Amino acid sequence: MILVTGGAGFIGANFVLDWLAACDEPVVNLDKLTYAGNVHNLDSLSGDARHVFVQGDIADGALLARLLAEHRPRAIVNFAAESHVDRSIHGPEDFIQTNVVGTFRLLEAARQYWSALAATEKEAFRFLHVSTDEVYGTLAADAPAFTEEHNYEPNSPYSASKAASDHLVRAWAHTYGLPVLTTNCSNNYGPLHFPEKLIPLMIVNALAGKALPVYGDGMQVRDWLYVRDHCSAIRRVLEAGRLGETYNIGGWNEKANIDIVKTVCALLDELRPRAGGNSYAEQIAYVQDRPGHDRRYAIDARKIERELGWTPAETFETGIKKTVQWYLEHPEWVAQVQSGAYRDWVARQYEGAAA
Ligand code: NAD
Ligand code: TYD
Repeated sequence: MILVTGGAGFIGANFVLDWLAACDEPVVNLDKLTYAGNVHNLDSLSGDARHVFVQGDIADGALLARLLAEHRPRAIVNFAAESHVDRSIHGPEDFIQTNVVGTFRLLEAARQYWSALAATEKEAFRFLHVSTDEVYGTLAADAPAFTEEHNYEPNSPYSASKAASDHLVRAWAHTYGLPVLTTNCSNNYGPLHFPEKLIPLMIVNALAGKALPVYGDGMQVRDWLYVRDHCSAIRRVLEAGRLGETYNIGGWNEKANIDIVKTVCALLDELRPRAGGNSYAEQIAYVQDRPGHDRRYAIDARKIERELGWTPAETFETGIKKTVQWYLEHPEWVAQVQSGAYRDWVARQYEGAAA
């Protein structure tokens, strides 16, 4: 049994599905179901006794103690977080509460539980903390990609809160000996991605005939990893990662935002041509830049490749095509998450600011 937190969100749900497809070890899935949590992501597991879903908060120490005592997991994989940079700019408090206080409570509960385990179980226990490359800050165009030794220089409330959580994890290992692993991953994309992030937002807006808002000059660079490749990397780190180590996870896919948007448009032109035949690229609208926008992220993934033999299965070309196809094949999923309200306030922040 493993305990997964945030397993109704984008990466967490993909991880739970991937885990249960790869092995028979049951999962307790603790998720608060914030706006980003969607139980329907796990519909295909309904009736599957290997998956126990619990709605709750990682900051709830009493609940954590109860779940750990009841299910006695051999590992905790912590995905639960507030994850959207734009939201963190306009409302940072939830990010501090979940990403910092929540991680602290989870570490404390894990420590109490782990301390009382018998020697063999204690030795086998792992706390895997899922983090982001954004903790390293921004890279100049010609700078080498982030290695695990790169300084922490977080720039957004989101990345600062994730950096704080990484430091807590490190301290709980150093001070209390908690057996931790930390992974810092680049931007993920793929099925079940909430359409407030770049790639799914562009797909659903394009199909709805709406503007495709590109922040600033669109030349910011992100390093893209197909979500199922992230999941396989986490499984591998859990299985064989060296205790206390950090592993950067990425797929060597640096792309400028505008190129991503144009690629999505080209795929939609091919797979679901617009009535009249014009390209979806006509819907691109340059808007005001994000405050404090990091210019470039890039992951040097050589450590996980060398030490753990992990490599991604998808290229960007195969992954993005699968992703666009998935959204085309799941209009009911899109409709379910499109309450509209979540995006309205973001739109207000950038409205009328076309460059
Ligand atoms: P997401 O926003 O899609 O999902 C987060 C999930 O956590 C949701 O299901 C939400 O309900 C749950 N949650 C939020 N607060 C909670 C709380 N207090 N208690 C319990 N559950 C809570 O995020 P994601 O994109 O799936 O990211 C998952 C993790 O991976 C995060 O820690 C994020 O920082 C990290 N990460 C994400 C990316 C990316 O590109 N999306 C890249 C690197 C790292
Ligand atoms: P996002 O998906 O929010 O991820 P992150 O900020 O964590 O990298 O954004 C990816 C990039 O796309 C980022 O440089 C901001 C940009 N972006 C846009 O240009 N327009 C948008 O509507 C969104 C959501 C993001």
